[in-house]
Amino acid sequence: MQTQRRFSEMDSSSQSTIIRAHKLCHSYGQGDLRRQVLQSIDLTISAGEVVLLTGPSGCGKTTLLTLIGALRTVQQGELEVLGLPMQGASRDQRRSVRQKIGMIFQGHNLLRCLTAEQNVQMGADLLPQRSYATRRALARQWLRAVGLEPELGKLPHDLSGGQKQRVAIARALAAEPRLLLADEPTAALDSRTGREVVDLLKSLARDQGCGVLMVTHDPRILDVADRLLEMEDGQLQERRVLPQAGR
Ligand SMILES: Nc1ncnc2c1ncn2[C@@H]1O[C@H](COP(=O)(O)OP(=O)(O)OP(=O)(O)O)[C@@H](O)[C@H]1O
Ligand SMILES: [Mg+2]
Repeated sequence: MQTQRRFSEMDSSSQSTIIRAHKLCHSYGQGDLRRQVLQSIDLTISAGEVVLLTGPSGCGKTTLLTLIGALRTVQQGELEVLGLPMQGASRDQRRSVRQKIGMIFQGHNLLRCLTAEQNVQMGADLLPQRSYATRRALARQWLRAVGLEPELGKLPHDLSGGQKQRVAIARALAAEPRLLLADEPTAALDSRTGREVVDLLKSLARDQGCGVLMVTHDPRILDVADRLLEMEDGQLQERRVLPQAGR
C-alpha cells in the first residue's frame, strides 16, 4: 500500500512527486484541551494523479488540505509540497508554494465587490509572465469552460450557490496550478454540473500534469479517481479504486 511506504524508500529526486508526507501529525488546542486530529499521515501524490479523499465529518480532511496548501504551519512530521519542505518553512516560502496551488474550499471565498470575471481574473493575475490581454482571455476561457460565460458580469450576490462554486473553480484553474486542492467542490452542484466539473479537473490533471487532491462525500464522482483514500480517526487508508463506469 503506497500510503504505508516509508519516506526514506521514496525517490526524493523524483520530479513527478508533488506531495510527500511522512508521519504528519496535527493537533488543535492547548494543555488538557489538546486534541490530535491527524495521526501519522503518510501520503505521496504524483503529477497528473487525481486522488479523492473521503471520510466522516470531523475526521481531519480539511485540516490535511490546509496543511498541504501551506495555510497552516507543520507541527510534527514531514511534509514536502512541490519539492519544498513545509516543516520550518518561512512565511515567504509558504507564500511562494501557495502561488502554485489552486484551492477550492468549502465556502467559495469570492470577493463580493468583484464580478465573476474579475474574480476569475484574480486567479489569472497570479501569472505575471503573461500579458494583461492573455490573462483576460484566460479568465474568459475558464468561465466558458465551467459554463458561466453569460454570467461573467454578475456579482457573487447575484449568482446561485452552484454558480459561485463554479466561479471559484474557474479562478483556481486560471492560475494554471501545479497542484489543485479541492474541498467538496461538487457539494453545491447538481449531478450533471458536478460531473462536468470533475471531468474538467481530470482533464486539467492529465493535460497539464497537475496533481489533484479532492475531498468529497459525493459517491457519484468516485470513478474519476486514480486513487481513493479514506480517512478515519486521523489516519489514512488506501481504498481499492471502484469500477470505472462512466469514465
Ligand atoms: N481551528 C480549529 N480549532 C480547533 N479545532 C478545530 C479547528 N479546525 C478544526 N477543528 C476540529 O478538528 C477536527 C477535524 O476538523 P476538519 O475540519 O479537518 O474535519 P473534516 O474531516 O474536514 O470535516 P467535514 O467533513 O465536516 O468538513 C474536528 O473535530 C474539528 O472540530
Ligand atoms: Mg472539511
